[in-house]
Amino acid sequence: MAKIGNIDVGDFPLLLAPMEDVSDPPFRALCKEQGADVVYTEFISSEGLIRDAAKSTMKLDIYEKERPVGIQIFGANLESMLQSVEIVEKSGPDIIDINFGCPVKKVVSKGAGAGILKDIDLMVSLTEAMVKHTKLPVTVKTRLGWDHDSIKIVEVAERLQDVGCQAISIHGRTRAQMYKGEADWAPIAEVKNNPRMHIPVFGNGDVDSPERAMEMRDKFGLDGAMIGRASIGYPWFFREVKHFFKTGEHLPPPNMKERLDAARRHLQMAIDWKGEKLGVFETRRHYTNYFKGIPHFKEYRMKMVTSDDSADVFAAFDEVEREFANYEFA
Ligand SMILES: Cc1cc2nc3c(=O)[nH]c(=O)nc-3n(C[C@H](O)[C@H](O)[C@H](O)COP(=O)(O)O)c2cc1C
Repeated sequence: MAKIGNIDVGDFPLLLAPMEDVSDPPFRALCKEQGADVVYTEFISSEGLIRDAAKSTMKLDIYEKERPVGIQIFGANLESMLQSVEIVEKSGPDIIDINFGCPVKKVVSKGAGAGILKDIDLMVSLTEAMVKHTKLPVTVKTRLGWDHDSIKIVEVAERLQDVGCQAISIHGRTRAQMYKGEADWAPIAEVKNNPRMHIPVFGNGDVDSPERAMEMRDKFGLDGAMIGRASIGYPWFFREVKHFFKTGEHLPPPNMKERLDAARRHLQMAIDWKGEKLGVFETRRHYTNYFKGIPHFKEYRMKMVTSDDSADVFAAFDEVEREFANYEFA
C-alpha cells in the first residue's frame, strides 16, 4: 500500500500526470471517475501566483470529487516559492508538488523546472524549505538528470527524501532528451532499490498500455505509475489498466455512447469552469483521441476543432451520434 504522507493511495496507484492545458479540473474529474488514484494540476508559476496573475490563480481551482489532488508549482526563487506555498494552501489541495522536470527553454533558462537539475544543492534546499513551510505533504516530479552524463538520480532522490519529500515521480528521460527516444525505467528502479529509500517512487514516461503499466510494477518494482499522454482524450486508460491488473484481460474499448457522453461533459465542464472561449479552445486537443479510429471522421473533427462556438461543437457531437451510433471501436 503506497502512502503520500498520511494519504493512503492504494496498491500501485495510477497518477494522472501534470500536463499544461490538459490536467485542468474537468479533465481531472473525468480521469478520477475512470480510476485515477491521484491527480495533479498542470504546473503553476510561483512568480505568477505571487503577482496574483489571473491565469495562475485560476489554475488553483479544485473540485471536491477529484481528491486527492496535488497542486504543482514551479520556480527557482526561494522567497517566491515559499509565498506561493501559502497561496496554494488556501485552495486546500492534499499535496503540493514541485516541478523539477519541465524541459522548456523559458522555464529552464530561469533555473526552474529541469533547470534546477544543474544545481542539486539548490534543488534540495528549496525542497527542504518548502517542506518546513507547510503541513501538507510535498512531492517532487523530476527527470533522470540534466543530460546522460550527469545522471545522479539515486543520490538526488535520497537527498530529497532526507529533507522531507514524501514521494517522488521520475520521468525516465533527461532534460537533454526532451521527449525524444524511449523513457528509461532502469535508473528509476535503481532509485527504488536503494535500501535507504522508503518514500514511494513513481515511474513516469511512455506508459501507454496496460502491459507497460504491469511491467513498471512487476519488472521494475516501482510503487505506482504516473500517466500522461496516454490519457489525453482517453480517460478510460485508467480503468483499462486496473481491469488488466485484476483479471489479466483487456476491457473492450469504450463505446460511442460513453465517448460522446465524456466529450459532452468535458466540454460543458470546461465552459462552466473557464468560460465559453477558453473552454471550447482547450478541450479541442482531446477530440482526436475521443473519436480515434472512426473512418472518414475528418469532416466532423474539423467542425469540433475549428468552431469558436460551443453550440457548433455540441451539434457536431449530435451529428456523430446520428452517423456513427453503431460504430464498433477496435
Ligand atoms: C501537453 C503536455 C503538458 C505537460 N505539462 C507538464 C506540466 O505542467 N508539469 C510537469 O511536471 N510535466 C508536464 N508534462 C510532462 C508529463 O507530466 C510527463 O512527464 C510526460 O508527458 C511523460 O509521461 P507520458 O509518457 O505518460 O506522457 C507535460 C506533458 C505534455 C504532453
